[in-house]
Amino acid sequence: MNEEQRLHSSQVGEKKNKDAKDYSLYFESVYVPPSLKEAKKRGKEEINYHKDFEIDPKFLNMGDTRKFFIRTFGCQMNEHDTEVMAGIFLQLGYTPTEDVKEANVILLNTCAIRENAENKVFGELGHYKNIKRDNPDVLIGVCGCMSQEESVVNKILKTYNQVDMIFGTHNIHRLPEILNEAYLSKEMVIEVWSKEGDVIENLPKVRHGKIKAWVNIMYGCDKFCTYCIVPYTRGKERSRRPEDIIQEIRHLAAQGYKEVTLLGQNVNAYGKDFTDLSYRLGDLMNDLRQIDIPRIRFTTSHPRDFDDHLIEVLAKRGNLVEHIHLPVQSGSTSMLKLMARKYSREQYLELVHKIRKALPDAALTTDIIVGFPNETDEQFEETMSLYEEVGFELAYTYIYSPREGTPAARMEDNIPMEVKKERLQRLNNLVNELSAKAMDAYEGQIVEVLVEGESKKNKDVLAGYTRTSKLVNFTGPKEIIGKIARVKITNTKTWSLGGEFIEVLAGQEVGVT
Ligand code: SAH
Ligand code: SF4
Ligand code: F3S
Repeated sequence: MNEEQRLHSSQVGEKKNKDAKDYSLYFESVYVPPSLKEAKKRGKEEINYHKDFEIDPKFLNMGDTRKFFIRTFGCQMNEHDTEVMAGIFLQLGYTPTEDVKEANVILLNTCAIRENAENKVFGELGHYKNIKRDNPDVLIGVCGCMSQEESVVNKILKTYNQVDMIFGTHNIHRLPEILNEAYLSKEMVIEVWSKEGDVIENLPKVRHGKIKAWVNIMYGCDKFCTYCIVPYTRGKERSRRPEDIIQEIRHLAAQGYKEVTLLGQNVNAYGKDFTDLSYRLGDLMNDLRQIDIPRIRFTTSHPRDFDDHLIEVLAKRGNLVEHIHLPVQSGSTSMLKLMARKYSREQYLELVHKIRKALPDAALTTDIIVGFPNETDEQFEETMSLYEEVGFELAYTYIYSPREGTPAARMEDNIPMEVKKERLQRLNNLVNELSAKAMDAYEGQIVEVLVEGESKKNKDVLAGYTRTSKLVNFTGPKEIIGKIARVKITNTKTWSLGGEFIEVLAGQEVGVT
């Protein structure tokens, strides 16, 4: 941690237990609230790689008689952070529980992307008031993206005194110290660094499942789309070193994992921050292609940095699957400009054209925001027409939500809610229509399905995903769970396919891993 980062360490209030303070060499004594303004300042600070993460031995028995519960909101990045925190809890001796009422520590890993995401968290926190009343010894913590917002921290301080600790996205590796402090302190413990330039390796993880795994390839985002809070809550772009990623994925392959999703807010910027080597996402994918693991995906792509070399590598297929999630946000060049997306409608279409040329059967999916400030009916129609022209197979669609501290939040939010809702409805109708059409095209085809387990709705049916991320439900023997099967598609719905099991893919036979 450098001097500037230390300044953003924080702890609130004077502790009532003065002795406790002496134990706590890990905390600064001055309370500095998290600041989106500070978070925005990006320099060319060097990125430090800490490859030697280790839990202080004095904390190792902290959880021996205690249970933890983590509730996760938001994107895959948060899901994966939860896996890391669960790993730390286990190393501290804690036991996981699915029942919030029997937990000794409850964490809410939060998302700040839209107002309704935040409201869900505040609603959940409200419920925990009773839990704290019934069991005052339980520790309640708030972490994730909302903790990085000064207004949220202030609101929690004012209104949610059932909370014992707040820590930020840059601080999860400090969970042992934060828990220790919370046990000793009577005050709310707050540790949120506004800036963090480091990459911490060798963090423990408890992965959710044994078939698919997430692997971070980079952290943060420097794109600063005008509506988006992520560059403030997740900090500047920092890429993990290729050798660390490759080693992690080799290890997952050796453990029998069948699919890896590479994670980053803007994976196409991977490697831009390396000062000593010229190695980008295309190079990484080319190296990962040679690892003996059946499927590799990545999310999320920003169209701006999607280069020709990457397309060339993806066209080699093998374990690189034919699904590209490529958020467009709007089909109108002037809207894209207001959003600071740094590409035009035409440039986006050109990129789609290049991808289709190299990978004609690639499934393209996207994210779209409707009702951004000043969006006219005509501009919205451009989004509709772009959607049809590209022929997206699926989209996550959102009504624009102003986020405090972002440039768009200073623009007048001048589109009436009914208009936004109408636009969303029309767009969703088109999304459904094209999804159903994409599904219909699978009728009669034989697809490869990574079988994940029994269908949630029917225990006699197996469920899994195609290389293009389509959900397939089919009947087949339970022994093929965790394998890749060839399935003949016999019926299609808007959001899923139905089929018949043919055989397990060569090399994936039952008993062979
Ligand atoms: N890094 C990813 C996006 C992460 S957020 C990318 O750039 O593709 C996921 C999606 O949430 C975004 O693509 C966008 O469509 C939506 N989103 C982000 N901020 C939003 C806001 N303020 N209001 C509404 N939707 C938003
Ligand atoms: Fe947000 Fe844009 Fe970064 Fe995606 S690329 S996380 S939308 S700022
Ligand atoms: Fe939400 Fe943070 Fe992810 S704001 S979408 S949890 S990066």
